[in-house]
Amino acid sequence: MSYHDVISIRDLSNKAIEGLFELTAEFSSGMRGKLTLAQHAVMAALFYEPSTRTRMSFEAAMIRLGGSVISMTDPAATSVAKGETLADTVRIVESYSDLLVLRHPLSGAAQASADFIGIPVINAGDGSREHPTQTLLDLYTIYKEKGRIAGVSVALCGDLKHGRTVHSLVQALARFGAHICCIAPPGLELPESLCRQLADESQVVISNYPSLESAPLRDCDVLYVTRLQRERFDNAEDFARLRSSYQVTRATLERARVDAIVLHPLPRVDELDFALDGDPRAAYFRQAAYGVPVRMALIAAVLGLRDIPALQVSQRNLVAPGWELTAVEPAKKCSNSRCIAYVEPAIPPSFQKNTTGRVRCRYCEALQEVPCQTS
Ligand code: NCD
Repeated sequence: MSYHDVISIRDLSNKAIEGLFELTAEFSSGMRGKLTLAQHAVMAALFYEPSTRTRMSFEAAMIRLGGSVISMTDPAATSVAKGETLADTVRIVESYSDLLVLRHPLSGAAQASADFIGIPVINAGDGSREHPTQTLLDLYTIYKEKGRIAGVSVALCGDLKHGRTVHSLVQALARFGAHICCIAPPGLELPESLCRQLADESQVVISNYPSLESAPLRDCDVLYVTRLQRERFDNAEDFARLRSSYQVTRATLERARVDAIVLHPLPRVDELDFALDGDPRAAYFRQAAYGVPVRMALIAAVLGLRDIPALQVSQRNLVAPGWELTAVEPAKKCSNSRCIAYVEPAIPPSFQKNTTGRVRCRYCEALQEVPCQTS
């Protein structure tokens, strides 16, 4: 069978994203009303991690489309607390709903869920891996504020190592032909596996800076700021050392263009000074508000209620372009302790290999150390 899953931003082509934006504009104008488009559908929101904007905007989107919502917001209040696996939980939820929206602290959880069930799965954030629907509203904001995405100069600033919003956004910006600059304190740069993937799949040239002070802010149209992802650090010392290593303040914006915009997926902690909120360049609340119409468009498309011709129906279990499934000998599990396949015994290890011989986990996409072949 075929499904409109959105596990990675790679599941949506540029044309499909443009189609979704047309639908978003249509839904934006009727945002305060309630449609009947999804009146026969139930969306399950399964959130194993805290969320304000993502869950509530998904729920608001489904309700405004006329559909119904069932939610799990506190795993401690469900059978998860009794030790139920993700695989079992999603199989149950499948029988209650038409669409699963999943947030989980482990990378690859959305992909693993899609392997077990027969309804579309939307990834609302899986560990530090991806957050493709946040990217849709980030791109939509850039498009609305700047009139285009191609050729726009975007600076990505903050915890680029652990931040899943950036991991999805940087892939989409590269594909749309934006200019990208990364500003990350040493130790928080983009993961190597993602950099290699970007180099393999696009012509993008990314410039890197270790601090806001050293970055050419005058050249940027968009400054996309992210918080330090405390919950994804392996040790408290690294977090303490990097805490307060960057902050966007009024002084920072004095070096930026008058028509630049500041975006942030939110929540902010201390990396974005509250004093910026009154500056017209602070676009992060406008950005968050787009979450509802963008997700209305996505839900309508994924459920087949509105036709987006470029939205490819993907075959489950297809391997990403350029990669093929491979057996890793001796049989082993993924080396990433924050991968769903490392933690859940019900998920069989699965690896992919590309033409350069690199091997990665099919779920979390972390590159694996594999023993040298001896001849
Ligand atoms: C982000 C997330 O959960 O990854 N929040 C969101 O969905 N808007 C960013 C974050 O938590 O820092």
